[in-house]
Amino acid sequence: MKILAIESSCDETSMSVIEDGVKDLGTVILSQIDIHKLYGGVVPEIASRAHVEAITIVLDEVLKKCNLTMNDIDAIAVTYGPGLIGSLLIGLECAKTLCFIYNKPLIPVHHIKGHIYANNLVKRLEFPLIALVISGGHTDLVYMSEDYSFKKIGGTLDDAVGECYDKVARILDLPYPGGPKLDKLASEGSDTYNLPKPLNDNTYNFSFSGLKSAVINLVHNETQRGNIIKKEDLACSFQKTVCDILTKKTIKALKEYNVNNLVVAGGVSANKVLRKNLEDACLENNINITVPPILYCTDNAAMIGAAAYYAYKKGIIADLNLKAKANVSIEDLDN
Ligand code: KG4
Ligand code: ZN
Repeated sequence: MKILAIESSCDETSMSVIEDGVKDLGTVILSQIDIHKLYGGVVPEIASRAHVEAITIVLDEVLKKCNLTMNDIDAIAVTYGPGLIGSLLIGLECAKTLCFIYNKPLIPVHHIKGHIYANNLVKRLEFPLIALVISGGHTDLVYMSEDYSFKKIGGTLDDAVGECYDKVARILDLPYPGGPKLDKLASEGSDTYNLPKPLNDNTYNFSFSGLKSAVINLVHNETQRGNIIKKEDLACSFQKTVCDILTKKTIKALKEYNVNNLVVAGGVSANKVLRKNLEDACLENNINITVPPILYCTDNAAMIGAAAYYAYKKGIIADLNLKAKANVSIEDLDN
């Protein structure tokens, strides 16, 4: 089954053709980073306009790349939420139009379910598993007993980890998107700053706003006193604090749920120190870990096409009334 997948939930216009949920026949990702960089973050109205300009070009490109026509496509999948509403609408209208013209089934995909299924393009998911979802908008621990069954067991009470990375990067004067730049800067420093451990308790929940405020206050106070901040050291201490808590709570969840499989998902899974910390901890605890290759960590349509195959097998099909949803839980049934 060949699924044409469309992802436009934030600032990437992406399309892929995925075969049977496992094989990427071709992916095109058109990033808007260069546009939003000028403003220090994604500007929603500009993002949706850029999607409008890009979407037909990306469609032509992906079909050309795969050497396919619309007649070879069996179904169309689209991210319907969560995300920026104006951005989601462009992908959704494109998907509906193609379904209407070519008479194909429409498969609605939850963006975060897509991030989890990015791992299925590396290695077929094995169940039960726990997914650590870490992106610009989410920080969740999700339990899956089988394909397309999602139970949230914990999550952030305030900021998502990627959002915290981006805000700390901003105070350190790093350009947008801050996460990868902060990751690189941290690798040049040492852990010398004493930062608070965020929500170091017995739950599976996270909290990053206190850590973010601690870094911002520290920078302001030191600057007012005329002291120089060693940015690479502060980045390193911040990164270590974040990675320690994410690793600790993820391993705790795996042990307490008696689960041997961990998948990591979302943009922050590109983080080098976090990947290494999680890999080491999993090795020590006899846990299988899958992390997506960098291309599939941040937003892309390949992950949406992979998830869509299993959604379709569960009978999740939408009609042309499908609505975009800015906020929607991972436990939503997508119909
Ligand atoms: O999954 P994603 O592309 O978009 C959302 O669904 O939110 O994640 C984007 C987030 C941004 O906050 C970005 O700064 C962060 O992922 N990110 C990273 C790294 N690469 C991307 N954060 C830390 N280290 C990285 N290497
Ligand atoms: Zn994402």
